[in-house]
Amino acid sequence: MGQARKVKKKTTERKTAKTSTVAEPVVKPKEITIKGTKGRPMLTWVGKRPLRNVPVFPAQEIERFTPEGSSLTIDENKWNDWPDTYPKAGLLFHGDNKEVLAHLLANGFRGKVKLVCIDPPFDSGADYVRKVNLRGIQGKARIEGETYTVGELIQYTDIWANDNYLQFMFERLMLFKELLSNEGTLYLHCDDTKAHLLRCLLDEVFGAENFMNEVLWLFRERGISKTTWNRKHNNIFVYAKSLGNQIFNVNSVRDEYSEETKKKFKYEDENGRYQIRGRNIPGSPVRQADGLRPEHEEMYPGLTYRQYMEDGQLPVDWWEIPLVNKAAKERTTYPTQKPEELMYKIILASSNNNDIVLDSFIGSGTTAAVAQKLGRRWIGCDINKGAIQTTSKRLQSIITEQIEKNTKKASQSKLELDDKNNENEPSPAQYSFAVYRVNDYDLQIQHNEAVNLACEHIGITRNRSDSFFDGTLGKRLVKIIPFNHPLSPLDLEQIKNELNARPGEDRDIVVVSLGKELAADAWLEEWNRMRKKGDVPNKIEVIELRTDQKYGTFIKHEPARARVSISRKKDNIKVEIKDFISPTIIERLKQQSGVLQPQIDDWRSMVDCVMIDTAYIGDVFNITLSDVPEKKNDLVNGVYELPAPGGETTVAVKIIDMLGEEVVVTSDV
Ligand SMILES: C[S@@+](CC[C@H](N)C(=O)[O-])C[C@H]1O[C@@H](n2cnc3c(N)ncnc32)[C@H](O)[C@@H]1O
Repeated sequence: MGQARKVKKKTTERKTAKTSTVAEPVVKPKEITIKGTKGRPMLTWVGKRPLRNVPVFPAQEIERFTPEGSSLTIDENKWNDWPDTYPKAGLLFHGDNKEVLAHLLANGFRGKVKLVCIDPPFDSGADYVRKVNLRGIQGKARIEGETYTVGELIQYTDIWANDNYLQFMFERLMLFKELLSNEGTLYLHCDDTKAHLLRCLLDEVFGAENFMNEVLWLFRERGISKTTWNRKHNNIFVYAKSLGNQIFNVNSVRDEYSEETKKKFKYEDENGRYQIRGRNIPGSPVRQADGLRPEHEEMYPGLTYRQYMEDGQLPVDWWEIPLVNKAAKERTTYPTQKPEELMYKIILASSNNNDIVLDSFIGSGTTAAVAQKLGRRWIGCDINKGAIQTTSKRLQSIITEQIEKNTKKASQSKLELDDKNNENEPSPAQYSFAVYRVNDYDLQIQHNEAVNLACEHIGITRNRSDSFFDGTLGKRLVKIIPFNHPLSPLDLEQIKNELNARPGEDRDIVVVSLGKELAADAWLEEWNRMRKKGDVPNKIEVIELRTDQKYGTFIKHEPARARVSISRKKDNIKVEIKDFISPTIIERLKQQSGVLQPQIDDWRSMVDCVMIDTAYIGDVFNITLSDVPEKKNDLVNGVYELPAPGGETTVAVKIIDMLGEEVVVTSDV
């Protein structure tokens, strides 16, 4: 069963949430200015544009996790450089990182970030999907032990035309450079599909003189090729903002000597086993040799020192770290999740306690998870709601565990308490975090999924190499208009410009959109008039999914529903989820199960997690209780008792299903 984590909110915390300026849009300049790049060498591509001014959008706080104990333990002095507009907490942004990074620059983070760790899409040409299973049910129609699968959910698409990809990365790299402090470092993870181009981009933006390393991450898994060398490494490029000033904690990342080398440590003193070495290495913790026996002096005339085995060896630029194992505790269901061990190395080496670590391609939250465990402050961002939900759940579990552990420690002796300042397990910089939205991506992030469904239903063949058109339908070219806005004359103008740039292109065009502005009809009439006159060869047809009888049926969405009883008895609030139904999950199950009809006896198998806010104020959801089952097969509890705040209050219950759909039920008690 899931572990319900009860966390009582203090009145003061409540006030903080209410008066938090970020719950309202943060009003800031409309644009930020970016310095030019370092220049040489310079890569060029079709449509390369410098990034000079970036519009700045406000951020709205949508969720906050402040469990009991979170505010007591923070060392305020370590937060002096933190902008007042934000709570002293981890920050998780839902949005396109270009806009989020511009927002951070305009809101007090310029030059404050010590470490940027990014693992962007690699231009792999793939859709990354998360396999979604229902929780813990052994359905009647299923073989015992099997779980129902609700199919695959696209988390993000990594299909780019080369030029778009380079422009995308170029712009983000420029923004990272502005955010980095002078002692800061950027780690960019990629593979050999784009490594050569990304290195050129990095040289251009950061300056080749700031290149630190190309680390090879080696792993043994994957690879079944019999015609090429199997790829068993990825690349991590490391650039300093200003080489020579960068943080590099060499002693935190020394490696253990191999068994073979250990044999060379033949001597022993009160500090442990050592060998005699001939010269000192700057930055090394080795202790100068004293009282050497004469035979040693003969062997090592001049400066000699004792090199101790336990100090470990200097770190190297190739790391052998296995991919995340399916059964690992850290495993989420998010595709492309990276191992925590990788992030431990990076964060330990290139940041200190309380430093700000930023990852704006956060995915399953690995960077934030390790930063939280290593006592760093962190900022994460992702455009995908599934990633934000996964990261939020992961951080809730880590912080709750940390609070439990450190509360226990606090009641123990001073000696044991000092132990928590151990380098590898420093005190957390924060025990809370807040989730923001920069622009509303709820619709846009479903674009990938919707495009895929649309292609499937209409029968469009995707074209992964065309930078403008999304595919073909028979002989016709297809353009899909993002589903967050109706087709407008502006979209049609873009199609016209694209066709102008391709003089020989005489294929007809199909435009797929969710809806259509009236003005678009006038534009299309004019286009058809021109076509009749022979001025343009391409016929343009529109499939408007919202009203299209033939193709539009798949977009009808019946929202998930919940029946929840919320009652109050004096100082206690009782929440009981009586039922939950997701028509989308049921529909997907039907499609998957063929002749076997799905049997869901317990609504809880459709639910991923439950969160409760006992004093809901309508915009920010303050998590007073979170029920995030630890194992994939565990179920949420469904019944909760919580302390009630004084006076009448609004209780909100947020239920997130296995497909990431959220239902919020509120009641005044
Ligand atoms: C390779 S994954 C990161 C995986 C992560 N390192 C982990 O350990 O889980 C890349 C992530 O970048 C996100 N992403 C892609 N384009 C983005 C954009 N423009 N803004 C923010 N996030 C983006 C994707 O949604 C995806 O979660």
